[in-house]
Amino acid sequence: MKTLIVYSSLTGNTRKVAEAIHEVFGSAAELFPVETAPSPAAYDFVAVGFWVDRGTADKKAQDFLKTIQGKSVALFATLGAYPDSEHAADSLKNAAAFLDAGNRLVGTFICQGKIDPRLIEQFKSMPGNHPHAVTPERLARYQEAAKHPDDRDFQAAQAVFTDIEKQLLQVAELGKSEVNAACGEQN
Ligand SMILES: Cc1cc2nc3c(=O)[nH]c(=O)nc-3n(C[C@H](O)[C@H](O)[C@H](O)COP(=O)(O)O)c2cc1C
Repeated sequence: MKTLIVYSSLTGNTRKVAEAIHEVFGSAAELFPVETAPSPAAYDFVAVGFWVDRGTADKKAQDFLKTIQGKSVALFATLGAYPDSEHAADSLKNAAAFLDAGNRLVGTFICQGKIDPRLIEQFKSMPGNHPHAVTPERLARYQEAAKHPDDRDFQAAQAVFTDIEKQLLQVAELGKSEVNAACGEQN
């Protein structure tokens, strides 16, 4: 199973998750930043990582997602919000919408990633009625995000992608035995 892992990362959070996922597949997979990613055409399985930008995949990841045709695809992402929030689920859903319908989405993973401190400084200067104005609750979320991705996130990502790999190998085996059975019937 030829596997391509592509990630888009501004400050390194998504790159670290991508590297953890790469360890699951080892030399069976190729890992690229989105800026130098090859065409996905020659691969069986494509994993695409992005940082959440305004509730969806960042623009570079969006553009790459649009190039994938007829593949098994998994998405992974990092974001400032909590990974079990509606915002996280919506961000994955919004990113998946950039995929052509001929692809098969086989799994997703999302975890928190530290927010660029410059962005937090900007939030701090916003008036109280602004949607990004800093509240104690938001500050607590930024402080939690600042600890991620951590080892538990890497392990959780690896568990998700180990399952995906197993699932894909089973499907590939099933496909082979169906072909063999069909050949047997013909002989
Ligand atoms: C311009 C900008 C927009 C962002 N928009 C969101 C957002 O809509 N929701 C969110 O939860 N986090 C948002 N974030 C936080 C990043 O998604 C998060 O810090 C991510 O882990 C960065 O990943 P990277 O280090 O791979 O670039 C935003 C960050 C930036 C810089």
